[in-house]
Amino acid sequence: MYPAGTLRIDELSAEERAVYATLKPSHLPEHVAIIMDGNGRWAGHRSLKRFLGHQQGAKSVQLVTETASRIGLPWLTLYAFSLENNLRRPRAEVSFLMRLLKTYLESNLERMMDNNVRIRYIGRTRELPAEVQEKMRWAEEATARNTGTTLTLALNYGGRSELVDAFRALAAEMKAKNLSPDRISEEDIHRHLYTAQMPDPDLLIRTSGEMRLSNYLLWQLAYTEIFVTERLWPDFRGVHLLEAMADFQRRERRYGGLGEGCGKVEEEAGQMKIAAG
Ligand code: FPP
Repeated sequence: MYPAGTLRIDELSAEERAVYATLKPSHLPEHVAIIMDGNGRWAGHRSLKRFLGHQQGAKSVQLVTETASRIGLPWLTLYAFSLENNLRRPRAEVSFLMRLLKTYLESNLERMMDNNVRIRYIGRTRELPAEVQEKMRWAEEATARNTGTTLTLALNYGGRSELVDAFRALAAEMKAKNLSPDRISEEDIHRHLYTAQMPDPDLLIRTSGEMRLSNYLLWQLAYTEIFVTERLWPDFRGVHLLEAMADFQRRERRYGGLGEGCGKVEEEAGQMKIAAG
């Protein structure tokens, strides 16, 4: 159940409202993470340059965030730029993505304020160009007191490098406190992740049909439900976010335990004889 004060259902489109009406309020995901994929293919299918696909992808970011904020989704985390994108894409594309991010923050700040959205970032953001970092800080500070959806952009992010950063910080802490490594718990690792202040994602959406995690939130996705759609990110809209949530509600999350309807198993196990030899 999302906090009633954050709901703006009357602002959903009729199509979105129809899907939203099918959702059980008691069983909504708190945190949705998205791998936004397919910008290049979207452009290619239209014989357009790749950068136009990214530009259209930025529009999807804005529209999906607004729908998330209208339904009161507390956490939305988008994979906007990976460490691998930074290292392996042509410099011209990387610098276009950096300019696009800057422009996005500048031109969407007002809409984020209107939608009560708080923006944050995860990743090795200190390696991004100084003027991009400056704009990022500006948007983060301006939206810091908003109380609706927290939009987290993963920028220069890699799941393995996040774990390296967490282990380094944890090792330094253990050394300073003179603690033995066998005191390390899952909670200690969680405390040092970029996402320490957030719950783990309940639902991961990946667009454009690829069945990969692509080094995204490796620790945090341990028990996350995965929804893959063939739709390319520039065509993804708020209504598709709601459809993914409806699919999520049809899943049974077991966290390694037994599902509902397995109440008789204990009884049966008690009666079961183990065959000798
Ligand atoms: C994948 O498409 C997407 C990216 C590499 C970056 C995601 C960027 C955006 C959605 C736009 C900018 C975002 C913000 C927040 C302003 P791809 O190029 O890998 O597509 P392809 O697999 O079809 O080539």
